[in-house]
Amino acid sequence: MCGILGYTGDHQASEILLSGLAKLEYRGYDSAGIAILDGDKIKVEKNKGRLQALEEKIKDRDVAGTCGIGHTRWATHGAPSDLNAHPIWSDDMTVVAVHNGIVENYRELKEKLSGHGYKFYSQTDTEAAVKLIDYYYKQEKDPMKALISAIKEIEGSYCFVVLFQDHPGEVWGVRKDLPLIAGQGEGESFLASDVSAILQYTKQVYYLDNMEIVQLNKGVVRFFDMDGYAKPKELSEVTWDAQAAEKGGFEHFMMKEIHEQARAVKDTFGAVYHSGAINLNEIGLTDDIIKSTSQIYIIACGSAYHVGAVAQYVIEDLAHIPVRIELASEFRYRNMPTDKNALAIIISQSGETADSLAAMRKAHEHGIKTLGIVNVVGSTIAREADSVFYTMAGPEISVATTKAYSAQLIACYVIAMQFAKVLGTIDDEKYESMLTEIQKLPEKIDAILDESGVLKRVAARFVNAKNAFYLGRNIDYAVAMEGSLKMKEISYLHSEAIAAGEMKHGPISLIEKGMLVAGIMTQSNLYQKIASNMLEAKSRGGYIFIVSTRGCEALKDEADFIFHIPETDEHFAASLAVIPLQLMGYYVAVARKLDVDKPRNLAKSVTVE
Ligand code: G6P
Repeated sequence: MCGILGYTGDHQASEILLSGLAKLEYRGYDSAGIAILDGDKIKVEKNKGRLQALEEKIKDRDVAGTCGIGHTRWATHGAPSDLNAHPIWSDDMTVVAVHNGIVENYRELKEKLSGHGYKFYSQTDTEAAVKLIDYYYKQEKDPMKALISAIKEIEGSYCFVVLFQDHPGEVWGVRKDLPLIAGQGEGESFLASDVSAILQYTKQVYYLDNMEIVQLNKGVVRFFDMDGYAKPKELSEVTWDAQAAEKGGFEHFMMKEIHEQARAVKDTFGAVYHSGAINLNEIGLTDDIIKSTSQIYIIACGSAYHVGAVAQYVIEDLAHIPVRIELASEFRYRNMPTDKNALAIIISQSGETADSLAAMRKAHEHGIKTLGIVNVVGSTIAREADSVFYTMAGPEISVATTKAYSAQLIACYVIAMQFAKVLGTIDDEKYESMLTEIQKLPEKIDAILDESGVLKRVAARFVNAKNAFYLGRNIDYAVAMEGSLKMKEISYLHSEAIAAGEMKHGPISLIEKGMLVAGIMTQSNLYQKIASNMLEAKSRGGYIFIVSTRGCEALKDEADFIFHIPETDEHFAASLAVIPLQLMGYYVAVARKLDVDKPRNLAKSVTVE
């Protein structure tokens, strides 16, 4: 969702802002803009559409200046338009701001400000907030006091980055429940929604807390609490390198990230595997905690939820402990009896997903311990969870997740294995064989990629397709959910994942000649069951596309296409079966000439409800 940037230093702000905003494009947006504070005047340029359009527009305009703010907007209140694009200005253009999030009480604020003579030119909720900041600034003549007074009145979740015309060279910011980091460089400083936007300039960052005011001057970053007192803060060094956020020769970030999965899997495992043993103490899962856990809730959204779906089968099978998977958006509003001895695992790549964060806070309210499986260091979920298991996927830019999904699976496998070991539900031999097998996954993932060229030709058949089904049972059903999502989110082909046993209860009526029906077959005890469901689809005209483990003989004569994955411990099969499904989604999207990395209407990090 919206991307935010602030800069002050010696370089031309417009250049830094445009290149940084380009790094935030992946978050999803529909308009873009910048404001430059040059001496004592603020210049704003903004428009509907892509950053390239903005770049084109400002070529012949005066955007000189070394202090500024920038924004990519993902419309919530008010359609994408030039006027609704950010930055948003006060009536006299002396206070100009960019905003992420939602000002929930914007109607009341507008009414109050209209009473004070303010006029409104946009349909945004943001305008009410900017004018409220301006209102207090006109009284207090102090940016910090104006921000404090304004945010005491603003309801919702937000992140504001503000220029005050009377304060040349300064950028101000504040956040609540939405990400904002500050970067410290040599004689320059930055504010950004995430580190990828500033990695090429600095790796020294501060993670802002909620309701904390930040002030940037050239190379100096200061923090203040809500009473206006200066707050000391620790600088952190980001370990991601700038190259990690580049395409590195691939046509799309998604393809690059698909190819980074073996590394992501290896590094995530390596993060908890030291001297020949898995050690989860540092992520808060001591043997005592494992033994006292009576139930696990796995809470997440999107693909992270699909990881939870795999984990549910794996943990229950290995550790015999009840696992309940919950969509964060449902969990947060559900009234259910909860178990104080439960462990809530919140899975989130970004660590900022609004529903996942709210669900985690709800778990805390119920007195339940939380463990975040998070990719972005310093993100809100990582900081608020009782403990964190960081996945080592590195920056993921493509909206459709691949390597973060794969890394999250590994984190869940490791947790499942440790629970099983400590609870004594698997013997040493099984544990050791799983330990060996999990370490072979990276090379098997790469082997699948080596053989995957054929999928491009199969995908070409579906360039004009309208519907697809993905079928599976047990872990294969969980993988089908992810495969189906990959297809629909980037290729816009309507696709559904169905627990194969449910086919006869409705979906089968939708099968038409040539329709893609993908079947996942990695669980040997269920081969024949899925095979029967697939044959029912075939006899109604479906194109039978199978992903199965090498050695599975079922459907070898009846399927239209079979992609074999290497054998592995069946608990880990999702890690391999998902690869050809990611590629099918990718190739269909490419064949349809779609914007693979930035699919329409979607955002990488969903920071509003
Ligand atoms: C968005 C992304 C998905 C992601 C989901 C949850 O929908 O496009 O790829 O799975 O959010 O995001 P999170 O950052 O919490 O994993």
